[in-house]
Amino acid sequence: MPFPESRPRRLRRTKAIRRLVQETQLHPSDFIYPIFVSDLVSEPEPIESMPGVANYPISMMAEQAARAHQLGLGGIILFGTPKHKDARGSDSVSSDGVIQRAIKEIKNKIPDILLITDVCLCEYTDHGHCGIIKNQTVDNDLTIAQLARQAVSHAKAGADIVAPSDMMDGRVEALRSHLDNEGFEDIPIMSYAAKYCSAFYGPFREAVDSAPQFGDRSTYQMDPPNFREAMREIEEDIDEGADIVMVKPALSYLDIIREARNRFDLPLAAYNVSGEYAMVKQMAAAGLADERRLALEILTSIKRAGADMIITYHACDAAKWLAEG
Ligand code: PBG
Repeated sequence: MPFPESRPRRLRRTKAIRRLVQETQLHPSDFIYPIFVSDLVSEPEPIESMPGVANYPISMMAEQAARAHQLGLGGIILFGTPKHKDARGSDSVSSDGVIQRAIKEIKNKIPDILLITDVCLCEYTDHGHCGIIKNQTVDNDLTIAQLARQAVSHAKAGADIVAPSDMMDGRVEALRSHLDNEGFEDIPIMSYAAKYCSAFYGPFREAVDSAPQFGDRSTYQMDPPNFREAMREIEEDIDEGADIVMVKPALSYLDIIREARNRFDLPLAAYNVSGEYAMVKQMAAAGLADERRLALEILTSIKRAGADMIITYHACDAAKWLAEG
């Protein structure tokens, strides 16, 4: 029935009607909050490019996690900076590593918080690449063995979910089999399945000082123009045993999120990355838009595209905004 019988504006007339017909709703439990722990700081060190985000010492971990927990967030994801970086990222597999100690500190004080760990080497290697270098290139198979050790060590320390973000081939299978062999068959893998080689990671690399010392990540992270390849990556990770799959970044990849939702039935995560957060902060600081409206519109778009959960630096703020109504 065309106009004048049809008048879509009828359903927008009042706030109450708009609320009734709203198709997408955000909840605090949709959000996963990234927390940065560093062995190089003894008090919070703000990350300049990401206002409101800081590197915290281990001693402040429980307090930070409690904040997320009290707001009813879905969970937290930890990123660490060790005291010493080396060629193999040794700190990342040590039971005394920065992340392992942070996990224990948080889980001792808040046992029921959902704690996810990022499994990757770039924060721990002196060259800044996500893997182990051999013949001037990131060696896939050496790297996945080290990642598997890292994931087991996170699980031993008390992580609830491990999230490999390196983009090596076969790493989900390597993690799954090592976890199972060590008695961690109940620990899920959230795979950064379609992770693109993106300029939007800039602020994060400042946070953990992980910019590659030579070359870039284009030989392992995906090429932004590719769509079908993302479906292949996700499918392979599901075949290898992923429990949750992720698309990253979110905002420039909403088409990938939508198609992944249409094709696959696993829970789908999206990572609203550091550069996306920084853009919002910059616009708000310049007086060009309201931060709350911008952030909630972006988060809504990611959920509307099909994501079940969103890793976002806006998690705590967004939960507060939603509570305010
Ligand atoms: C580690 C990792 C990165 C991010 C999450 N895990 C950085 C990268 O690949 O360079 C980016 C997160 C963000 O930008 O918010 N591999």
